[in-house]
Amino acid sequence: MCGIVGYIGEENIKEVLVDGLRELEYRGYDSAGIAVLQENDIQSFKAVGKLKNLEEKTKGFNPHAFGMGIGHTRWATHGKPTEINAHPHLGEFSYVVHNGIIENYQELKKELQAEGVHFLSQTDTEVIVHLFEKNYKAIGDPFKAFEATLERLEGAFAVLLMTKVDPDRIYFAKHGSPMIVGNNAKGEIFFGSSDAALIGKATEVIYLDDGDYGYTSVEEGIKLFHEGTPKALNKKPLIGDKISAQKGGFRFFMEKEIYEQSDVIVDTIMGRALDNEIQFEELDAHFFDGIDLIQICACGTSYNSGLACSYLFERQAKIRTQVEIASEFRYKEPLLDPKTLFVVISQSGETADTLEALKMAKSAGLKTLAICNVDNSSIVREADYTLLTRAGIEKGVASTKAFATQVMVMWMLSLYIAQHKKTMTPEEIATEIKAIRRIPAAVKVNTRLHEKMKRLSKRYLHGHGFFFIGRDLFYPLALEGALKLKEISYLHAEGYPAGEMKHGPIALADAELFTVALMPRTVHYDKVKSNVEELSARDATILAISPERFELCDDYVHTYHSDHPMSEFFEMMVITQLLALEVSVRLGNDVDMPRNLAKSVTVE
Ligand code: F6R
Repeated sequence: MCGIVGYIGEENIKEVLVDGLRELEYRGYDSAGIAVLQENDIQSFKAVGKLKNLEEKTKGFNPHAFGMGIGHTRWATHGKPTEINAHPHLGEFSYVVHNGIIENYQELKKELQAEGVHFLSQTDTEVIVHLFEKNYKAIGDPFKAFEATLERLEGAFAVLLMTKVDPDRIYFAKHGSPMIVGNNAKGEIFFGSSDAALIGKATEVIYLDDGDYGYTSVEEGIKLFHEGTPKALNKKPLIGDKISAQKGGFRFFMEKEIYEQSDVIVDTIMGRALDNEIQFEELDAHFFDGIDLIQICACGTSYNSGLACSYLFERQAKIRTQVEIASEFRYKEPLLDPKTLFVVISQSGETADTLEALKMAKSAGLKTLAICNVDNSSIVREADYTLLTRAGIEKGVASTKAFATQVMVMWMLSLYIAQHKKTMTPEEIATEIKAIRRIPAAVKVNTRLHEKMKRLSKRYLHGHGFFFIGRDLFYPLALEGALKLKEISYLHAEGYPAGEMKHGPIALADAELFTVALMPRTVHYDKVKSNVEELSARDATILAISPERFELCDDYVHTYHSDHPMSEFFEMMVITQLLALEVSVRLGNDVDMPRNLAKSVTVE
């Protein structure tokens, strides 16, 4: 996820900006840039890769006198991680940095191009600066031009803009992406997309609300507006240390990432789940021609997301789908047919087994697609097509938001193929899109649920093992729930199809066997219920997760989003993640760095 900083003051502007960006490094990025305005002259520098590359480029640049600057670390979503695509983006006399996604950028870009504006980058961001300059030329007032620009933007954004036509001010806006503005007794002004960038610099901050915008200068201070009218400044003292600021006040990165899921899913679907159709600008019209099988290949959590979505590909897109663990696939001497679409799923894009499986498929002439969270990773570079999951950097070793966004991308992909193959009616697609748009609400963690999981967890710290059971796409979710728990609690946990119990595993059932039963209302409720009753009759301890009260369980977590199988899926996903988290916390384990595990597995 991208990072933004801004500064007005007398310190070495370059150093203040780069220092701020360093505090945002934890968010992940693939390029960085700054622009500095002094004495009506703007200097800008950009570099691909780490901040040290930017520092190298700015070695001879030491802006000591008064001035202002904006800076950015970019996590590619529209366009490759190149220097041209890095921020700040420039027009004729202005520079902009932006976090989020401008959903209607293509429409705006076409409009501006038709008027002769030349675009340098592939980004959505560049439309902002050109639109601002066009408005300025028409209106002649920079603030009014900025307001008019914001009115045209759809999507999520946090924006900082500097312009030579108003060299004392930085313009800012927030809508759906975080932005904080702060100051100190010296009169310096700071901006950051997280307070980590401001700690130790600003003493008072304003956490901007969606719809807030305005400008700052040393003479005028912070001028804040909302819906066209001035707004009072709600300043708060800035306290706290940098690490806890990076964790956003959460105890662990994993916990923060569980809470972030609602926001990152908004990013994942933005510009893709339109009113009545699914659109992927990354795929061309012939993407699916001649394909009669989808072969999915991945490891761990990514495998589980692929397995879950194989149900959707078959059910919605009516396309045969196979799913294989990458380390198995590589050595099974698979029979590969060029009519197969080969899909690899990977958070990191660097998993050795997945990468090798992809290379095998490519050399056999298959069309390949990567579902990945890291642009420019080895897997992305190797695949013919890529759909980025837009989860932002995932720091917790136990994957949470990466899984959620992978499932979301593949759900949209199955609808995209269904559109193409006409296996669903436009009305059915529209209904699915409505369901997609409700998912951010379904994954929002509410305090009562989290408190309940904290309390419940104390009963699940011993025993001889856990069964997570579910049917249909709740079976892969059971696998994922068990994987999460075992990774960070070190307790033995297995996921099973609920109907498989009586074929062997039920032999383990006794009071010390904990069963986490995923019992959605919309998918085979009665069948799962009888499977759970069989376990309950053998005295197994049952934790039921369901919208329906279930008499025979020992513990019950009530779910609320039961209008669609996928909203049940996502809500239950969050509950199993919180269960794993809280069991691990009670056992005193290192939640973010579990023993024996690495975030990216680049060896076989
Ligand atoms: C589990 C987990 C791992 C990864 C697996 C594949 O929480 O994170 O199981 O899912 O190592 O990694 P990626 O998705 O990076 O290919």
